[in-house]
Amino acid sequence: MKNNKKLILVTGAAGYLGSVIVPHLLQKGYAVRALDNFMFNQTSLLPHFINPDFDCVVGDARDKDTVKRSLENVDCILNLAALVGAPICKQKEKEAWEINYEAAVMLESLRSPGQGYIYPNTTSGYGTHNPVEGPCVEETPQEPISVYGKSKVKAEKELLQKPDVVTYRFTTVYGLSPRLRLDLMPNDFMWRALHGGALVIFEGNFQRSFIHISDVARVVSFTLEHFDEMKGRAFNVGHERNNKTKKELAEKIAEFTGCYLHFTNLREDPDKRNYFISFRRIQDVGFVPDVDWDVGLKSLHAGLKTLHWSNPFANVEYY
Ligand SMILES: NC(=O)c1ccc[n+]([C@@H]2O[C@H](COP(=O)([O-])OP(=O)(O)OC[C@H]3O[C@@H](n4cnc5c(N)ncnc54)[C@H](O)[C@@H]3O)[C@@H](O)[C@H]2O)c1
Repeated sequence: MKNNKKLILVTGAAGYLGSVIVPHLLQKGYAVRALDNFMFNQTSLLPHFINPDFDCVVGDARDKDTVKRSLENVDCILNLAALVGAPICKQKEKEAWEINYEAAVMLESLRSPGQGYIYPNTTSGYGTHNPVEGPCVEETPQEPISVYGKSKVKAEKELLQKPDVVTYRFTTVYGLSPRLRLDLMPNDFMWRALHGGALVIFEGNFQRSFIHISDVARVVSFTLEHFDEMKGRAFNVGHERNNKTKKELAEKIAEFTGCYLHFTNLREDPDKRNYFISFRRIQDVGFVPDVDWDVGLKSLHAGLKTLHWSNPFANVEYY
């Protein structure tokens, strides 16, 4: 596959983010090559196989030959393949380092000059920053606690030493995707409120920040359009208006669902995430998220109400 369109390699394309980003890029006029091992038996990419601008490599992002094959004729890489979240990385520590760190660095070393590289980090590394010292900017030291945060931050640090790399520090993403994740705080809260009628909240005063998944797709196409201006830097991705406490999020979800709220000190977040983030840098290059949380949470509420299956993540430990 190579026509006059720019070809984007999306690793982890069948994941929660990739399943929304891939159709967005196709719609924006890019050709997309997916690379994924389909570890969750996802079906989310099936509608795109009819599209001549889409192709797919089924394989492991740790495998050098698979990666080399995937890189042929590629203009830019979006590396989403990862073990995502603190619980799974704690269970599978070796694989987490191999995929989130080693494979991310290997992919960089195998690309040809001119192939841009976009890498999504997390804001988990800001967890220990004391909010009274001011908002977290991109220079704020990142001190992640979980293996997930550590493996992502280490990869980002190394990648930013190389030319033509852009990294994102995404706040907590929420919203609907054909590969649904219910272990993200707003999705989880909405699900529990709808299906359990109650929310038990720990660390309710902790400050978090949220971004809707459709804005994540938009920031990727924005980056492809503004790559030269953005390369060599990390960007916090979100908006100050979506900096909220967990209590505010729970109360908003109670407005939609009428659920009962109970606040407790029973548990702690593994990454101690309590931060106020500044998004000045991404605003300065011209990107502002579109979706306010009233709109985002309303659509999340409407979508999750249509699902009648029981929670497949019932035994999963949440964030
Ligand atoms: N969702 C968020 O809130 C968020 C926030 C910050 C950063 N990120 C980053 O964005 C990326 C995507 O996250 P997501 O929420 O879509 O997670 P996800 O778990 O839904 O997607 C990860 C994808 O990677 C694939 N994968 C895993 N190991 C692989 C391997 N060895 N080879 C090939 N494919 C493999 C999985 O099959 C899956 O499709 C990750 O790098 C994550 O760290 C996500």
